[in-house]
Amino acid sequence: MMTRHFTRTATACLTLALSLIGCGGDAPGTNQHSGRPANVELASFPTEWTYRPGAVAPSAEHGMVASNAGPATEAGVEILTAGGNAIDAAVAVGFALAVAYPEAGNLGGGGYAVVRLNSGEATALDYRETAPASASRDMYIGPDGKLTADSIVGHRASGVPGSVAGLLALLERHGTMTRAQVMAPARRLARDGVVVDEAMNGSLAGSAELIAKFAGASLFLPDGQPLAIGSRLVQPDLAATLDRIAEFGADGFYRGPVAEAVEAEMRRGGGVITAADLAAYEPAWRTAVTSSYRGHGIIAMPPSSSGGITLVETFNVLETWNDVAPWGTPESLHRLAAAFQRAFVDRNALLGDPAFITVPTDRLASKDYARTLREQIADDRATPTPDVQPLREGDQTTNYAVVDQWGNAVAITTTINGLYGSGVWVPDAGFFMNNEMDDFAAQPGTPNMFGLVQGEANAIAPGKRMLSAMSPTIVLDPNGAVLMVVGGRGGPRIITAVAQAILNVVDYRMSLADAVGAPRIHHQALPDMLFYEEGGVPADVVAALEAMGYATRPGGSGNLTAIMRTATGWDGIIDPRRQGLAAGH
Ligand code: DON
Repeated sequence: MMTRHFTRTATACLTLALSLIGCGGDAPGTNQHSGRPANVELASFPTEWTYRPGAVAPSAEHGMVASNAGPATEAGVEILTAGGNAIDAAVAVGFALAVAYPEAGNLGGGGYAVVRLNSGEATALDYRETAPASASRDMYIGPDGKLTADSIVGHRASGVPGSVAGLLALLERHGTMTRAQVMAPARRLARDGVVVDEAMNGSLAGSAELIAKFAGASLFLPDGQPLAIGSRLVQPDLAATLDRIAEFGADGFYRGPVAEAVEAEMRRGGGVITAADLAAYEPAWRTAVTSSYRGHGIIAMPPSSSGGITLVETFNVLETWNDVAPWGTPESLHRLAAAFQRAFVDRNALLGDPAFITVPTDRLASKDYARTLREQIADDRATPTPDVQPLREGDQTTNYAVVDQWGNAVAITTTINGLYGSGVWVPDAGFFMNNEMDDFAAQPGTPNMFGLVQGEANAIAPGKRMLSAMSPTIVLDPNGAVLMVVGGRGGPRIITAVAQAILNVVDYRMSLADAVGAPRIHHQALPDMLFYEEGGVPADVVAALEAMGYATRPGGSGNLTAIMRTATGWDGIIDPRRQGLAAGH
């Protein structure tokens, strides 16, 4: 189950110029950009839905940062205020999350960044983990022919981490500050400590069984109990690792004592990552997936993430209808589910690391292809995909968004996959390792921990990146200016959550707070099921969808962080389903 943390107390911690845009009691907010199709009524949320429309988003005039941890957002605002650009601030947030948000922020994981510079240039950085050199296709299949749990828990679950190399590559190419400047907040937080809040205490309690198996237990579960609310998490080993990175750059992590500590812990626990794997790691600059939706520009992440192509394919199918169906109606949810279903069929079968397979990006992202998909969608009937096991919900990644006063924008999603990754904590170096190997199709055709059924394109091979659903995305308004910076957590539900937030803004003209707080659905082809957030879709709408042939089930959505341009600056929002802080200057 998702935990629900509200952001309001956290947002009160910083002095924020609160915008009145989007504020209006129970009336849905409106945003400031034009382009809403004339036939679309403003949406109102079902009365049973947890969040009321009209929530107020923190806003700021010059720049904005939204992340899932208050100290990390404050690190980003500190850098923006000191004159850094959005990339400097994003790198500062990334390192600070590794300290202040151990459940998902990381040095031991990987991620994706989508960047739009004020010059109009868009780019994407892939710093996804890679399979170690000794990895093999069937490494998680036991003697009985069944999948083992080794891709999820423990030393064999980790891919070679990319986060440090990725953040430093971003800084080097597009930043303006030094490593020492942007890493200062993270080093301070590691050395002086982070105050444990209710969210961190609850998160540690929820994962205590996993953490207790490995070396992080003494730090995070002193006396066997999660760090108490109000106590301080002080991380001297992590501080020393950050010091080495600040001094030596990527070599401070991928070579020398930190790499040796990773290798030693792997050897101790039967893992396979070696110092040579670490030394060989390279992030990859990619051409962003660019497309349009009803006159708005879309800049999204290409493979090795499936996020961009799946989003664009969904949008292209929806765009084949000239009209926009009224929000929340069976008609609109049917179109959305049918589009998601088809995009996920392609995602699950065809996408993977472009260094290993040929990805038909142009075809999948083309408007022509969307028209052929649309021809298979009946107006009043679901199309079955063969049924498989139900999926589990994921909730352990983190997205952050930054914009600056010069018009640069960055969306980054990073993860160690599960909460606290594989559970393995690297003694002396002070961080958790990921369990990203589970994102491969460890046994093509068998569901992974997100219930995703994937094919040979995403089978394990040495050095290969596992397919991701992470979807950091930037939306441009019809004039080509940055309108939204958005991304989220939730495995495959990231894609459907990001899509719906964008549709809520572009098609239904919601304020940012409403676009993110609105109830969502999810469909990922297999299992062949339309999931809806409880209370978010009224019973008569569920019944109408079932009458069309959809199997339906209540289920969670992803969690988003997002920024949107307003008439006076920027709104920033943390999904009300999750904790965090949006703040600016
Ligand atoms: O890359 C992926 O798609 C997953 N490893 C993301 C995991 C995730 O979002 C977990 N939950 N929030």
